[in-house]
Order: sequence, then C-alpha cells, then structure tokens
Amino acid sequence: MTEDKRRRVSSEVVDGTNKAPGRAMLRAVGFTDEDFRKPQVGIASTWSNLTPCNMHIDKLAEHAAQGADNAGGKSLTFNTITVSDGISNGYKGMKYSLVSREVIADSIETVAGCEGFDGIVAIGGCDKNMPGCIMGMARLNRPSVFVYGGTIQPGKNHTDIISVFEAVGEHARGKIDVKQLHEVESTAIPGPGSCGGMYTANTMASAIEALGMSLPGSSAQDAVSDTKLEDCRQAGAAVLNLLERDIKPTDIMTREAFENAITVVIALGGSTNAVLHLLAMAHAVDVKLELDDFMRIGAKVPVLADLRPSGRFMMSELVEIGGILPLMKTLLDAGLLHGDCLTVTGKTLAENLEGIAPYPEGQEIIMPLDRPIKKNSHLVVLRGNLAPDGAVAKITGKEGTHFTGTARVFESEEECLEKILEGAVQAGDVVVIRYEGPKGGPGMREMLSPTSAIMGRGLGDSVALITDGRFSGGSHGFVVGHVSPEAIDGGPLAIVESGDRITIDAETCRIDLELDDAEIRQRLEKWTRPKPPVNRGVLAKYARMVASASEGAVTDRFD
Ligand code: FES
Repeated sequence: MTEDKRRRVSSEVVDGTNKAPGRAMLRAVGFTDEDFRKPQVGIASTWSNLTPCNMHIDKLAEHAAQGADNAGGKSLTFNTITVSDGISNGYKGMKYSLVSREVIADSIETVAGCEGFDGIVAIGGCDKNMPGCIMGMARLNRPSVFVYGGTIQPGKNHTDIISVFEAVGEHARGKIDVKQLHEVESTAIPGPGSCGGMYTANTMASAIEALGMSLPGSSAQDAVSDTKLEDCRQAGAAVLNLLERDIKPTDIMTREAFENAITVVIALGGSTNAVLHLLAMAHAVDVKLELDDFMRIGAKVPVLADLRPSGRFMMSELVEIGGILPLMKTLLDAGLLHGDCLTVTGKTLAENLEGIAPYPEGQEIIMPLDRPIKKNSHLVVLRGNLAPDGAVAKITGKEGTHFTGTARVFESEEECLEKILEGAVQAGDVVVIRYEGPKGGPGMREMLSPTSAIMGRGLGDSVALITDGRFSGGSHGFVVGHVSPEAIDGGPLAIVESGDRITIDAETCRIDLELDDAEIRQRLEKWTRPKPPVNRGVLAKYARMVASASEGAVTDRFD
C-alpha cells in the first residue's frame, strides 16, 4: 500500500496549500513537517480520577501513543467521559449510566470523524465505556484496536465491590454491625482496575477479545502490570499494521465474530449486560444479531468458569493461570469457535491461538468441557405473556430453573430497596420493578442494590426479581431483566398487580402472568401511559431516541 493510502483520511486534513491553517494549528501541538506525512492515530482515553476502573488509563494512553509513534504513526490523544456504576448504583444518577455508552460512542465518532484520524486506539476500563469505544470506532470503520484497562486486585479477605453491596444487606438484617460494614467498605477496593469478578467489565473485555478487536491476552491482565503497558504499546503498533493492510472493523466484526464473542461470554458465565452491549455493537456494523442468537448458541455452549458473582474466583486469579486464551483454545478445538475470523493482529483467531498451552494441572477456575458448571448457557432469553419481545435471565442453576410466586410490584428501584431492607419482601415473592426500562427510567438502571439486599437478607433462594431495567454483572439470584416491551411502552409488565401469580421457567424459556388473555386485555385497555419523567437534557433526548432493550437500546436506529 502506498503512503498516501495509509493516510487516506488525514491527507484530506493536512495535505495541500489550502490546508495550511489546519497544519498551523497542528504545529502548535507538536507536529513537524515530517509528521504531516505520517498516518494519524487517535488515542481515545477514558481516563478520569473519579473511579478506580479508569484512574490509570492516562498512563496506558501514553504507552499506546508511544507504540503508535514508534511504529511510524503520529499519535494524538483525546479524552472521552466515563461514569462509574459502582458509585452510582442505587440512586437516581444511575439513569445516566447506559446513556454514557451512547455519549462515549458519539464522542469518539465525533472527535475522530472531525479530526481526520487514519486509525484509532481506544482504551476503556468500565462497563459502558468498553462497548461505547467499540461502537464509536465501528461507526467510522477506520482501522482500530481496543485496549482493556485491566482488572483490579482482590480486596482484604478476597473481597470486591459486590462484597460491599452485599454487606449493606447483611447489615440491614443484623448479621454484621456498622464497624464491620466500615471495614469491608474500607478494604474491598485496593487500587486501580475494573471490578474484579466476571462482572460486566471483565465480561465485555473478554467478549471484545473474542470478537477480535483487542490483542490476544488483553482482556486478562492486571490493571497495574508491565504486561498491560506492553499491551498498550503493541496496540499502538497494531493499528499501523491494520492501516498497512487496510483491515477495518467491518472486516473483523462479522456475524461469526459476534458468535465467538457470545460463546466466550457464556463459557465464562458472563454478565447479562453482554446481551445488550453485543446487540448494540453489532448494530454499529450492520450485523444482524438477535436475542434468539444467544439461545441458539447457548444450547451447545457450557458454562465452564467458576468466577464471581455466582462462582468462587476473581479475574486476577484467572490472569495467574493464563487468562482466557487456553479457554478459547479449548473451545476452538471443540468446534465451538469460528477459527477463520480475522482479528486486530491481522491474523485469524485460530492462528492467534496456535501453540497456546492448556491451563496448569490442578487449577479449579476453568472446568473441562466434560465437567461443566452448567451444560448450557446461563443467559436465558424468556418469552411469554409478560415479555412478548423477550427478557433476559441469568440462570446459573444454583437457584433452580423454575419459580412460581406472588408479585410484589414497585414503581421504582428506590421504593423496592426500602421495602426489602425493611423486611417487607418475603420468601415466595416475585419482586416486580417497572418503569425502569430504557425509555421509562429513563436509562435502564441496574438493580444491583435490590438484588444485593435480597442476597444480604438471605432470600437469594426464595425470592425472584423481574424488571424492565437491567442488572449489574455482580447481580446474582433468580433475576430476569430487559423485559420487553417495557412498561412505559404499554408492555404487560405495566398491568401486573401485587398478589398476581407469576411463573418463570428457564427450561421452557417462559415468563408468564397467570391471568387469562381477556383479563390481560382488559387491564391493558384501562392502562394509561405515564407522562415522560423528564423533558429537558440528555435523559429527555435519550428517552425519545432509544430503541428497545431487545434491540440493544441503541440511539441511532433509524432504518
Ligand atoms: Fe467500573 Fe465496575 S464500576 S468496572
């Protein structure tokens, strides 16, 4: 490829006499005459010091920039935003969380599109900023690599952020005192890195690596480590290779690549948020992916990882035994991954996995294929008269696969949490939290505080929770989210009354309100749509633009 082709976008910004003003601006930020002949690589950093997940990403961005510069490019670094669910969960600010995915995607598309970068490296370390980075890069379809910020170390006594959420419930039922709660709060988060279980951040990092958009090994590295810094430098250099070979996100993010991502998410026992984010990422490259694809793939892929929240181990312990590459090799050898998918190395997935050694003997984190934790997917798409367009459940099997109980209806997360902590929710209840969907919240909050409070009160085996909101990757128990259509759109969730009977069956994949069709119809006819909860600002814009959770809750679906 000629040098001009490698600079096909930036050339429009810096070449020719009439581009002198742009060059003058760039000279002020350090460009020399020679730099104008190099491909420009935008480094998108999600750094901020408001959360441990992203507090170190400025350093990672410097190393990615070095990698791009040393490989013959000219790097330019810019920031995008991030928010932290660990801080916002359980209060109204959480309504901005899923919105931030769109803001991040929009901001990366906006900056890279405006400045004329030839290639992009985006570095993310928290739930929403990772899919946001991929979506922003994919929309522009310029050679791109994603870098994961890396996982946090365990806190004292093998704790993490979910330990703190659950300690709140334990305190509410008198199992621990304030001093013990303070001790957990003060020691669970020891420094930089993403939440330490197979929660949404580690799930999405693994999914993105399996998708082919990050370098092999990138998803299972400690946030503070030489391997992470090396990953960043190599990512910077990898973009130049992709430019040379004209490999773009649409060449990598194919339907088969998304199937690989889904397979790895299932094998790892990953977060329900992966369903939402993978649907959205697929939309960014016009790949047709649907809820039913998760069921089709889930029927043949077992859960193999004994990782939190449902299992015992943390991501840092998976890092110690080799990360996800040996798992991917096992899945590939079993015919469960498409080996011919192209990746950001410029090689196929199968080529990347050549020579990967198996896990060490005696490890207990990843089970062999013939002794799975669950023989098929824990991510179950349910349909029925309560969710005609689908709902997503996380069924590990530990909670059983069938639940029939009595509805306890709440119109918001706060109202529900208060009642759980008061002890008003009892064994046998199906907690219903509605008007928390993408439009209705707006923002589709995660119901982590209620699920943690249920666990903390010792009701994990005897209470189910259903919502048109979603769940943190740290939520566990008998939980069903993403109920679609959502209540504010007149979905049947809107007409459930406390005392109704609800049945959830993960074997038949059904979720039903035990009322006859005539009664449901009558109630729906009487239902009136509540007024939009907000009329100004980003939440109002989001509520008007957002698509259903069953379509990834994207804000740019106009076809
Ligand atoms: Fe950022 Fe969990 S809050 S990874």
